[in-house]
Amino acid sequence: MAPSPLVYLSPDENDLVGKLQSYLSEKLFYLLEQTGTIGIGVSGGSMTRIFSAAILAIPNLNWKRIRIFMVDERNVDVNDPESNLGQYLRLFPVDKHDSFVPIPIHENVGITAQQYEINLRRHLLPEQFNSAPRFDLLFLGVGPDGHTASIFPGKERLEKITDMNWVSAITDSPKPPPARVTLTIGTINFGKNVAFIITGRAKAEIVRSIVEGDEKYPASTVKPINEKLVLFLDSEAGSAIRDQERLFARHDEMSSPEPETPPFE
Ligand code: 6PG
Repeated sequence: MAPSPLVYLSPDENDLVGKLQSYLSEKLFYLLEQTGTIGIGVSGGSMTRIFSAAILAIPNLNWKRIRIFMVDERNVDVNDPESNLGQYLRLFPVDKHDSFVPIPIHENVGITAQQYEINLRRHLLPEQFNSAPRFDLLFLGVGPDGHTASIFPGKERLEKITDMNWVSAITDSPKPPPARVTLTIGTINFGKNVAFIITGRAKAEIVRSIVEGDEKYPASTVKPINEKLVLFLDSEAGSAIRDQERLFARHDEMSSPEPETPPFE
């Protein structure tokens, strides 16, 4: 049985932003001491404002050594209101825009996916393990249907997406717009520090499924190979978790940064 994730439960969004800020600060300063450039992947949706508020509140970060990638992106121009990157750029001061790695958008979403993968291979080269990429930090959202990144429920969709590519193109996303690119579950699971940011009662069942690892939804197939999974939740999102006491007892075990051990040792 997979180990339970580390859960941070907040009464409200302000508290969640504070907890995320502490987590980010601890991880980023540790990683900045250890490695050259830090690769962070972020999703879109409601976590955009939460992640932005948390990281922008950290003083004295060396932004020149931080690269932020989109975990998934809608196949639209960055100036389109639907663009995930565009939403981040509107929340970040201009002097930090260079930290974002843009996805070259092509009208053919298959070509966008190829370009995105080429970009990732270039930027994450030193962080590959065999042929798999290794993001330092990944932040995921979930939809009420159980999707994460742009990996939506449905057997055919999941089959299409589980090949060995780092990135997949989606043409039939049930959440508009339909054309998207997304990291695959394989890529996500190679992340060194994978975390979900989830708020609202509509997602409580998905949170339960992630905590129990029952793989009923795409989000609950996220199982990092290093077995480190963190959940930042508000109390509504956490309301269907069973066995809360056991989960919260894990904070002491996992709260300090550990040296990264290579997988499969
Ligand atoms: C996107 C996202 C997607 C998002 C979830 C949750 O581009 O749509 O990356 O995976 O994180 O749909 O979105 P909400 O938090 O807005 O419900």
